Amino acid sequence: MLVLGIESSCDETGVALVDADGPGVPRLLAHALHSQIEMHQAYGGVVPELASRDHIRRVLPLARQVLADSGRALAQVDVVAYTRGPGLAGALLVGAGAACALAAALGRPVLGVHHLEGHLLSPFLSADPPEFPFVALLVSGGHTQLMRVDGVGRYELLGETIDDAAGEAFDKSAKLLGLGYPGGPQLARMAEFGDATAFDLPRPLLHSGTLDFSFAGLKTAVWTQARKLGTEVCEQDRANLAAATQAAIVEVLLKKSLKALQSTGLKRLVVAGGVGANRALREQLNTACARRGVRVHYPELSLCTDNGAMIALAAAMRLQAGRAEARRDYAFDVKPR
Ligand code: KG4
Ligand code: ZN
Repeated sequence: MLVLGIESSCDETGVALVDADGPGVPRLLAHALHSQIEMHQAYGGVVPELASRDHIRRVLPLARQVLADSGRALAQVDVVAYTRGPGLAGALLVGAGAACALAAALGRPVLGVHHLEGHLLSPFLSADPPEFPFVALLVSGGHTQLMRVDGVGRYELLGETIDDAAGEAFDKSAKLLGLGYPGGPQLARMAEFGDATAFDLPRPLLHSGTLDFSFAGLKTAVWTQARKLGTEVCEQDRANLAAATQAAIVEVLLKKSLKALQSTGLKRLVVAGGVGANRALREQLNTACARRGVRVHYPELSLCTDNGAMIALAAAMRLQAGRAEARRDYAFDVKPR
């Protein structure tokens, strides 16, 4: 079963082809990605209308590239999958429209995939794939969740953010520090040169006794500190504040993940979503989990942020598990929220 996957929920256009012959983990045959970061940089954030237009320009050339790289013909594709949501409505519609048009022309069914399920399952494409069950820490630009995962489609929400997501905390703090978009990776780079103890920032809900998160208060604290520093702020102060911000976010993610592992008794942790690319987070999770005999699994670094491979994979795994049915109504339905 060849599954072509299309991702277009935000500012990356991704297309991929996976082969799901047999019961094993589907094999990634090829994937291609176009990032719109440069285009949105001038505006300091994603401009939805520009994002949609660029997805339109990129999606078919990327699909052609994937087919050429994999040595397969379009006619061999059995199912076309796309990101159904969450994401920007217009951007999602481009992927859904392209998927339905290709599928209708081929007489093949389509399957809409939940973007977060793509992130969640993406470590299965790594050289060290996890086994069920595991605890998942999903940390993207829009979501921060801890889940118990017993199998494909068998997810139990253990906790989530009650306001901002971890990625949002990175991005908004980066903006307050005068860094460009996307802020997370830039703040992380700046933090390398900073002293995290130079500022005392809050760790919201750290001792709440629940597995929920809150990052809005942290953003306000960063704003207060940044304002105190004023406009003539020196580079070292900025680096220190970046380091303190990253330390606060990482500590909360680390402690809550350990708590989730403890309460479920599970010995495997999967970390997925853009913030999962953060080096400080990975180092601290690796050290703490090694001490507790817990194995940590990440997606390949290149598949941490949005991509088509995770969408093709999630669709293939759902179909393999009998937990989804591809459809022929070509309704290109999307669910932005
Ligand atoms: O999963 P993702 O690519 O898109 C969403 O589904 O939201 O995640 C994007 C988020 C952004 O907030 C970005 O700043 C953050 O992931 N991010 C990072 C790093 N790389 C990406 N945050 C901290 N450190 C990084 N190295
Ligand atoms: Zn994402």
